[in-house]
Amino acid sequence: MTAPDGPPRLTRLTFHGPLSESRADRLVARLAAGAPATVLDIGCGWGELMLRLLAAVPGARGIGLDLNEEDLARGRRNAELRGLADRVDFLAESATGTGRGPADVVLCLGAAQALSSLEPPGHIPAAFEALRGLVAPGGRVLFGDGFWERPPTEGELAAMWPGAHAGEFTDLAGLVDLAHEAGFRAAWIDPATLEEWDEFESGYRADVEEWLAAHGDHPLAAQTRERADGHRARWLRGYRGVLGLAYLTLVPVG
Ligand SMILES: C[S@@+](CC[C@H](N)C(=O)[O-])C[C@H]1O[C@@H](n2cnc3c(N)ncnc32)[C@H](O)[C@@H]1O
Repeated sequence: MTAPDGPPRLTRLTFHGPLSESRADRLVARLAAGAPATVLDIGCGWGELMLRLLAAVPGARGIGLDLNEEDLARGRRNAELRGLADRVDFLAESATGTGRGPADVVLCLGAAQALSSLEPPGHIPAAFEALRGLVAPGGRVLFGDGFWERPPTEGELAAMWPGAHAGEFTDLAGLVDLAHEAGFRAAWIDPATLEEWDEFESGYRADVEEWLAAHGDHPLAAQTRERADGHRARWLRGYRGVLGLAYLTLVPVG
């Protein structure tokens, strides 16, 4: 078997984040209950949750914004396969300062960094402020982003990404406080479980690990192995069980 272009990318993931099928069903049902006419997905990737919401709300229209052409193409293909292509646009444009709102539902899942040029932790309040301006009165924002499950140790921080520091995230209570300070009430607070994280991290890596096992002498093997080993170490020695991710269903205060 030959793979001239290196390993396949993210084919094992349904969502580009720690999200189980059962939680996705609950999130979609809650958002669909408001019968949104418009959905805006910030940093949509392939927009799986947006597509499920559009499927659940006949007539609703969606716009997804991202810069990754490969993921946008995957979203368009899935929309075509599900008969949703005429109700959704996957647009290759930055969400920073976007004028694509207001929308009845705004999704921002693992993509707070797309809404400003600020470094962590300032990107989270900046994202809430931008989302407050993008959601229509009476609408909903579904926001998914990180928080510390407990304070990280120095050893764990050193094993995470370069420059990781304890001030990069708040705890869960602090994250919800920031949403409230920006003019939302958090109607639902859904922290991802460790099982969802492990499923996501393994799914993220599985394509690459299987490819490496079969292509040890490929010209790209050495750099691919170094990247994969680095990621696995950051996860297992650094942020596993320490970095959380919460899905907040936010209601704009009238
Ligand atoms: C962790 S992924 C999440 C994707 C998707 N929301 C999901 O949950 O499946 C973060 C996404 O943000 C996108 N992104 C980063 N900066 C962006 C920007 N300025 N404008 C739009 N998208 C951006 C990345 O390309 C990436 O697809």
